[in-house]
Order: sequence, then structure tokens, then C-alpha cells
Amino acid sequence: MKKAKIAVLISGTGSLLIAMLEKGLDVSLVLADKDCEGVEKVIVRFPQVKIEMVRRTDFGKPFESHRAEFTKKVVEVLQANDIKVVVMAGFMTIFSKEMFDAYSGRVLNSHPALLPAFKGPRVVADALAFGVKITGTTIHIATAELDAGPILAQEAVRILEGDTEATLWERIKVVERTLYYETVLRFMAKNFSNTEWEE
Ligand code: GRF
Repeated sequence: MKKAKIAVLISGTGSLLIAMLEKGLDVSLVLADKDCEGVEKVIVRFPQVKIEMVRRTDFGKPFESHRAEFTKKVVEVLQANDIKVVVMAGFMTIFSKEMFDAYSGRVLNSHPALLPAFKGPRVVADALAFGVKITGTTIHIATAELDAGPILAQEAVRILEGDTEATLWERIKVVERTLYYETVLRFMAKNFSNTEWEE
């Protein structure tokens, strides 16, 4: 019996990833699409964790014409590392369908709003601009259709007077740091008995 390997994909500060590592999640691989703070933190604080870079900037412009090529490269790297579950944590590149063919039902994402409300890339600002009083986070299975896959968990966050995008987003992230970790554990337990799988 081998443990099903998890990869966490990041592009930015990586605070969700760091929270997962601090809580003891067995992350076999961190993959980033650009040099970022999250990668720096992993190198310093969790040097035992393997890092792979698939830089967007190494692909031609416009990126849209190279999205499939980029996606295929990421899939190749994940498969070469024997990864079974892909956890996107602030990963900012949208994959083409090749990812969801290769890892169907096994790509997880955390979205900082209560789906199906506020889809897209700037949703914390969108929720503030709309004037909703409650937003939150959604942990879901990512599919080829953006922000539309089956929901695994949600938690609400109240919007306070005077909130800015930064203050609200940080309170959402506080919730995500626990909810995402717990949801990944539940997902692994449900889909890979005792987080293990047989060859
Ligand atoms: C989280 O809010 C997540 O929902 C969104 O990106 C943010 C990642 O934060 N997809 P960090 O880079 O882990 O701090």
C-alpha cells in the first residue's frame, strides 16, 4: 500500500498552503506557475517539500494560444511525481480541459466567495462592490467550467462596516486555512480509504 500523493498549486503568498503544512498535511509536491512568496516560504520553512516550477512566462504570447501546452506540461510534471490529488490554493492560471481529463474529480479549489455567487478572479472586490452583507468561501471540485464544479464545503463570513478588499479577504482566508485543510482530509478519507490506495 502506498499513500495517495497530494500536490498543492500556488501563485502568490501561499498562506493556505503554509497553514496546511503547519497542520501536518502530507504534501508531496508544491507546484507554482511563477516565482512567488509562497515558494520562498516553503523553501525556508519546509525544505523537505519538493517544489516544481512551470512558469507561465516560459510559454509564448498570447498565453491563450499556449494554455493547453502549459496545462499538458503541468499534468506531465504531476504524473511524473505520481500525484493523485491536485489542490489549488491561490493558483491563478486557468487550466485547459487536459487537466480535468487527466485528474477528473481530483482537482480541488478554494474560492473566496459563496458560489454560485461571484465567480471569476476578483470576487472579494466584487462582493464588496455589490454590497452583499455576507460572503465567504467555497471549497469545490474544479472542472473545465470555471467555478462551477461540485461543492464540498462552504462557510460564511460577515462583511463589516469599513471593510476593504484586504481586510475582508484576510478574514475569508482565516476561515479557508482551516476549512480547506479539513476538506482535503475528508476528501482523501472518502476517496482513498484511510488516505491510502492500492496499486
Ligand atoms: C484564497 O483566498 C483562495 O480562495 C484564492 O486565493 C487565495 C489564496 O491565498 N483562490 P494565499 O495565496 O494562500 O494566501
